[in-house]
Amino acid sequence: MGQTEDKLSGFYRRSIVERLQLLRQEGYLDSEQVARLTCETADKLVENVIGVFGLPLAVAVHFVIDGRPMVVPMVVEEPSVVAAVSGAARRAREGGGFVCESDDPLLVGQIAIVGLSDIGRAKRALYKHQEDILNLANTLQPRLAARGGGAKNLELVDLPGMDGQPDILVVHLLVDTCDAMGANLVNTMCEGVESLIEKITGGRVLFGVLSNLADRSLVKATARFPRSVLGHGGRSSEEVCRGIILANHFANVDPYRAATHNKGIMNGIDAVALATGNDWRAVEASAHAFAARGRQYQSLTQWRANEQGDLIGSIVLPIKVGTVGGGTRANPCAEFSLKLLGVRSAGELARVMAAVGLAQNFAALRALVSEGIQRGHMMLHARSVAAAAGAPHYLHDAVVERLIQSEVKETRAREIILELSGASAVQVDSRVAAGELSSGFGKVILIGEHAAVYGNHVVAAPLSLATRARAEDCTDGVSIVIPKWGVEQRLQASHPNALQKSVFLILDELGLRDRNVRLMVFPSIPRAMGLGGSAAMAVAIIRALVQHFGLSLTDQAINEIAFGSERLAHGSPSGVDNAVATFGKTLLFKKGTPPMRKEIRLRRPLSLVVGSTGKESLTAPMVARVRAGWKAKRAEYEAIFRELDELALDTVRVLESHDLDDLGQNLNRAHDLLVRLGVSSPELNDLVRMARDQGALGAKLTGAGGGGSMVALCADEPQRLVRAMNQAGYEAFLTEVGGDRG
Ligand code: HMG
Repeated sequence: MGQTEDKLSGFYRRSIVERLQLLRQEGYLDSEQVARLTCETADKLVENVIGVFGLPLAVAVHFVIDGRPMVVPMVVEEPSVVAAVSGAARRAREGGGFVCESDDPLLVGQIAIVGLSDIGRAKRALYKHQEDILNLANTLQPRLAARGGGAKNLELVDLPGMDGQPDILVVHLLVDTCDAMGANLVNTMCEGVESLIEKITGGRVLFGVLSNLADRSLVKATARFPRSVLGHGGRSSEEVCRGIILANHFANVDPYRAATHNKGIMNGIDAVALATGNDWRAVEASAHAFAARGRQYQSLTQWRANEQGDLIGSIVLPIKVGTVGGGTRANPCAEFSLKLLGVRSAGELARVMAAVGLAQNFAALRALVSEGIQRGHMMLHARSVAAAAGAPHYLHDAVVERLIQSEVKETRAREIILELSGASAVQVDSRVAAGELSSGFGKVILIGEHAAVYGNHVVAAPLSLATRARAEDCTDGVSIVIPKWGVEQRLQASHPNALQKSVFLILDELGLRDRNVRLMVFPSIPRAMGLGGSAAMAVAIIRALVQHFGLSLTDQAINEIAFGSERLAHGSPSGVDNAVATFGKTLLFKKGTPPMRKEIRLRRPLSLVVGSTGKESLTAPMVARVRAGWKAKRAEYEAIFRELDELALDTVRVLESHDLDDLGQNLNRAHDLLVRLGVSSPELNDLVRMARDQGALGAKLTGAGGGGSMVALCADEPQRLVRAMNQAGYEAFLTEVGGDRG
């Protein structure tokens, strides 16, 4: 457990593709493909379908439930719920995880009888014929009875009639629905026994239908949150512990508070119900009816402290869900979620849901009684506000950062987008470069990777993604913080890692080795995806230091220092990545001393789709692989390099004349040559094929290969290709090439 759980730590900092791969490696998934609901399937689920409405499918991590580590699928649109539940599960794990129990899965069917002149006599007759009624009900669902379920018992409830009419007698049919939620099973039984009941009682059945108050299927979850995990937001463990217990009392004595308290709990429970294709309205109705069972509506959880000062929480509520039948099988996403959970019965699913509800309540109360709910919630909410305000992909992180610093509101987000974007993406990046944050640009190689290492021409263009950096004063040496990757490191001269070596080199080159500085780095270029992320980071850091210490450095000098950093990282790079990262221009490049660098002026900007395999592309091993091939088959490899060189030169012509058809053909040809060099991969080929199938004019891998990314040129509707790639489980984005980003 420990090892798997540690691997899932920081899950949220990974890309979607990496998350899927990790779940697969850890044995939670047997396929990386997330199931999707198509219009065709949806059309069979409900009536008058015209489309499919998407909601995020996420997983909560760190759960240990009855001794079993689990990742829990959740479908929810509200930011911070999944983070909150994962954080709480992590803290509960310190106390041994959640311990759960559940009743038999009984559902109540109600058959209401009216028009009875003698209720007592009707009751006696029903009890006398109880076995007949149960037998008839069970013949209506023979497969359920064969599995050990079925109608088990009758209860009779006498209710006052309306307007002086005789009482209503209600027959409760108690049905064990096994692993099905059971609504249809029970409704069929209720309607099927109506005429027998009328015959037995002489009354008239008003109707027969299930009850959604599933209080015969109660579930309980408990967890111990050790004292050591409670302190938060400037509040001690004792304060948080006392605060949570008091907050619970508040919900028990005040229905206004209890409604909010229980709504938070249902944030978690509904999300699992939705992910597993269960009827979340039924789960909601049952929970709230149960919470109102006493004199007033109350909390579904209870909190207390033990003698050691640990916090003990428990939740009891009715949860009647299914793992077979209904939406659980018809919806492929639900089937996927159930497989991911690995639950063996509906009871087990209900126990997971209770644990999630308790976790959610802990997280919300801990936040409420310490730093307040808005801080954690709003930090995460800012991401969806930025998206709602229409922040383009390349600006998203910058908008979120600024929202958090000011006010998390859509109107503010729009203002920030306007402030940042002005007329174009190009200006944004140059403004950022000129302002408080310094930038290095990502790149795509259009033609010539690998051949460039052997002195051939290469054509590369800057992406609309950049890495930004800021240098800040501090008093304790040099540190580097990359919030997005969870990196916060003080530089150690004794055992520097690769990142630290690069920073040391930059500091040495700038004569700043003995200064105190904190480097804040904000990468928006995916790591190790062949998009020039390392060069962009080096350039951003150099520019940030230059700006902070008031140095004067030309772009050429910045480029040379970044090249040194690239050599440290990759062995023998051509130098094109740092050149594009520094100058932000589309370049024809050839290595040498000095290298040849010519700006290509595009007649019009190009829209390219970049698709990412999610698998790392490491330059040094791929360059070494090509070198081994070149040594073994020199003539063949050199012919390939020559052809790539000619393609690169021809690509200058087609870019300048905006001849998209020829550009597409060049890209396709280059990919075929790279395949022959042995640097493609099944995922890259899959993405390239997908792009061509979707009508792209050309597509090829970009960068070192072996994983990493590919690039496609679409004549029209590039977003359609982005969607197709996303649907196949790959990350993809649209970038504009050809602007001057310098
Ligand atoms: P934290 O304690 O600052 O986080 O929580 P941490 O840095 O100590 O990390 C602990 C774990 O939390 C991480 O472990 C992650 O699993 C998870 P790791 O994986 O690193 O080993 N985590 C995240 N997961 C995904 N994305 C993230 C992230 N950050 C941490 N960005 C947190 C931070 C936001 C979780 C905390 O502030 C929190 O729980 N806030 C409460 C938020 C909440 O309850 N939201 C629910 C919606 S509001 C609601 O329920 C309605 C309400 O009205 C109900 C009521 O009134 O009772 C409030």
